Amino acid sequence: VDIAGLIRTAAARIGGETPRLDAELIVAHALGVSREALLLGDPDVGDAAAVEALVARRAAGEPVAYILGRQEFWSLDFEVTPDVLIPRADTETLIEAARRRFDRDRPLRILDLGTGSGALIVAALTEWPRASGVASDISPAALAIARRNADRHGVSGRCAFRCADWDAGIEGPFDLVLSNPPYIAATEALGPGVAEHEPGGALFAGADGLDAYRRLVPALPRLLAPRGFAVLEIGHRQAAAVLAIGRASRLEGGVECDLGGRDRAVVFHRR
Ligand SMILES: C[S@@+](CC[C@H](N)C(=O)[O-])C[C@H]1O[C@@H](n2cnc3c(N)ncnc32)[C@H](O)[C@@H]1O
Repeated sequence: VDIAGLIRTAAARIGGETPRLDAELIVAHALGVSREALLLGDPDVGDAAAVEALVARRAAGEPVAYILGRQEFWSLDFEVTPDVLIPRADTETLIEAARRRFDRDRPLRILDLGTGSGALIVAALTEWPRASGVASDISPAALAIARRNADRHGVSGRCAFRCADWDAGIEGPFDLVLSNPPYIAATEALGPGVAEHEPGGALFAGADGLDAYRRLVPALPRLLAPRGFAVLEIGHRQAAAVLAIGRASRLEGGVECDLGGRDRAVVFHRR
């Protein structure tokens, strides 16, 4: 097989922002080798038809992560399917913010509300090896993926999974509450492929995108341990509104930026 030619042709068809990288990942996946092996020389396999089918999916706008069935988060490899949001690098801001507030011995109890693929709870349990966790989601299909990801990274023995509408039936207290809830306004325009392929229940939260915060922030005083913190992802223009929802629940809050310098998380603690 002419690997270089295969990658060139695929990249030309894929287009978009990262055609060459997308093509390398997809061709490697179709041929059953790593991207590194692909680039080091001709792998001893040759199913060009499999490549063609996957390239066609990418050219039609399907995200690479769904085509490969995996996405990296916090340097860990996560299984993803169209039942879960593809974990974003910006969401690592939440783990960084939590790390700055705790040491090696704490948190001991961690909650992840709306866990999706399990990215946040698995990253957190990896970071704090003595901690135990609860992960909830309203989507049973997402919870099944989260469980598999917890298994894959050896933390499922320290994590309970709950199918729940936010905090319903969840007993605290927790030292750390993490959540990346849906926060897109119903009318907001999204990047290519997002609205078409990722689950709507993971993205949208009412007319102004704040519905999920209105539900889960008032539960935080009940869920948080006395010296606990809640770290919630936000849209970059939502900090003031989410802090106000917190103040109404007697929570003190601060804002954390992502690597691009935009507001990305609100951190709450009890007054
Ligand atoms: C933006 S995704 C985040 C997924 C994952 N935590 C991440 O950061 O990649 C939001 C998640 O919240 C879940 N969700 C939406 N409404 C919910 C509700 N009422 N109760 C619990 N989870 C909910 C969705 O199913 C989805 O998995």
